[in-house]
Amino acid sequence: NKPQPLRGKRLLITAGPTRESLDPVRFLSNHSSGKMGFAIAEQARSLGAEVTLIAGPVALPTPAGVTRINVESAGQMLETVMAKVNSQDIFIATAAVADYRAENVADNKIKKNADELTLTFVKNPDILKTVAGLPKPPFCVGFAAESQDVEAYAKRKLADKKLDMIAANDITVAGLGFNSDANALQVFWPEGHCDLPAQPKTELALALLNVVIERYQEKNDT
Ligand code: PMT
Repeated sequence: NKPQPLRGKRLLITAGPTRESLDPVRFLSNHSSGKMGFAIAEQARSLGAEVTLIAGPVALPTPAGVTRINVESAGQMLETVMAKVNSQDIFIATAAVADYRAENVADNKIKKNADELTLTFVKNPDILKTVAGLPKPPFCVGFAAESQDVEAYAKRKLADKKLDMIAANDITVAGLGFNSDANALQVFWPEGHCDLPAQPKTELALALLNVVIERYQEKNDT
């Protein structure tokens, strides 16, 4: 029988992209497939956790034994996370949340009459920062998708968002990161770091969870 170090623990995971409507037929989004977050959800379940997976629009089956809630926009993802977060022990934010949304969503399809089109975007709320700023936050693990200065930007996000841990991926490496089956992570926490080399996301998810469990136990034993 497999060890169940997460038995009795509740994990909340966000995965996939968000979609921000521009008009009734168009949206702003990104290339996240949800594979990283779904792999973490599946592995956390296999380690005994009670897992809630809040997923943006992705074409993936729900891992067995995992409770899945589908959302579209960053606003809906925030609302759903906040409704679930109070009872959680660990929060892992793998979702690629759109940083901006259209200031006004057009009621009707935008017509292509003009040669140029200017839209105004406003900043979306930061879901992870909101959770980590709660009076009694769960153990908070962020992701960082970076195309340059991976370590420096990841450490800045760790400190700015007051996280327990951040897992950074360099999205410029071919075959890794967005919408691929493999990934590599540089993991940072306030007192240390480790590298998880390139491997299938299913295996990487387990390696990351082992680091999370170690830090979580250390934090909660002291
Ligand atoms: O889905 P896949 O195709 O498998 O790809 C995996 C991945 C590349 C999407 C994943 O490994 C990853 O890097 N996810 C984070 C992507 C991202 O948006 O990173 P960021 O550096 O912009 O955000 C930092 C952290 O804040 C993330 O944990 C993010 O979920 C969170 N965030 C960001 C903005 C926002 N408004 N709310 C948030 O919660």
